[in-house]
Amino acid sequence: MSSFEFTDRVGRVSPSATLAISNEASALETQGVDVVDLSVGEPDFNTPENVKTAAHDALDAGKTGYTPSPGIPELREAIAEKLRADGLDHDAENVMVTPGGKQALYEVFQTLVGEGDEVALIDPAWVSYEAMTKLAGGSLTRVDTTPYGFHLEAALEDLQTAVSDETDLLVVNSPGNPHGMVYTDAALRGVRDLAVEHDITVVSDEIYQQIVHDDREMTSLGSLSGMGDRTITLNGFSKAYAMTGWRLGYFAGPAELVSEAGKVHGHSVSCATNFVQHAGVEALRNTDEAVAEMAAAFERRRDTLVAELADRGVDVPAPEGAFYLMLPVAADDQAWCAEAIGEAHVATVPGSAFGTPGYARLSYANSTDRLLEAFDRLEAHDLLTAGV
Ligand SMILES: Cc1ncc(COP(=O)(O)O)c(C=O)c1O
Repeated sequence: MSSFEFTDRVGRVSPSATLAISNEASALETQGVDVVDLSVGEPDFNTPENVKTAAHDALDAGKTGYTPSPGIPELREAIAEKLRADGLDHDAENVMVTPGGKQALYEVFQTLVGEGDEVALIDPAWVSYEAMTKLAGGSLTRVDTTPYGFHLEAALEDLQTAVSDETDLLVVNSPGNPHGMVYTDAALRGVRDLAVEHDITVVSDEIYQQIVHDDREMTSLGSLSGMGDRTITLNGFSKAYAMTGWRLGYFAGPAELVSEAGKVHGHSVSCATNFVQHAGVEALRNTDEAVAEMAAAFERRRDTLVAELADRGVDVPAPEGAFYLMLPVAADDQAWCAEAIGEAHVATVPGSAFGTPGYARLSYANSTDRLLEAFDRLEAHDLLTAGV
């Protein structure tokens, strides 16, 4: 038997908790078990028809070869146009098109985080920020917004205490996975003040930007004065356009950064898929109605869930965007999630995967019927009353 010597780098990270649970759900389903899978962060809608048609047209037109490494000019320009509408001073040269937002983040971390560099995360934080920091050799500082109902504005003093001149990168994710909060302008200004004071680069992960509830305004962090030169804006097509499997995303920032990260990009993926990029142009330009309809459906489900949970005696911080809800469960959230999937056949992700034990993340990218079915099952197994 051969024995490999794995790198320290890969030994520092664990497999994605979200993917692990959804694999477990799939395995149970293969055995014929009906699982209500609330673990995956994937819209349950189909990609808008005109986007699919644009991909077919691009294939028919022979758009099957490599593209320029940072993306086709039409898509980079369409993205830059969108970012300018958000108040960011960007041209096509400020944009890197990637196979998914995850790859965009990976390239940014590989470019900006070195051995021993400090990355600050706001908990609960999406699982991959920690792994990407570790893969790059960085160390973590974490600020917990849980005591403040996941509201960053109330946690600004804690953030102030956590960051310093030693902090190299701060990650902000609003609307946020797993908590669904949309950070207020006052919170974002607080982030700006700290970033400027300590000369910190900020990654603003805005992948849930179009899924905002209650007509809330969503400000792009890089549009605040003082942030243009220090913000990398991350976005993608998976969530808003129901295009998870297409693998299309991007980051945008100062041209110097895009060019340097281009080395990681060029030597790892070369470019995003050609015809998918053409579909991306269509998604950006002609899907306002479809995107609004999906966002409205998520909001209706949020309303139902929060009301239904209240009826069953469980109060949760109402999500303000995205499609996730943090359910207070039990101090040992991993055991709770294991019981939820093993006994009640409801798949959720333990809060500890996001730095927030005591909670489970439920994705409400599922039909209302299935969501209510999940609550019935959890209740039948006495799993809805535990709380922290
Ligand atoms: C906060 C956040 N950022 C980035 C991503 C990456 O998405 P994708 O690689 O599908 O574009 C996800 C996906 O779950 C996410 O939740």
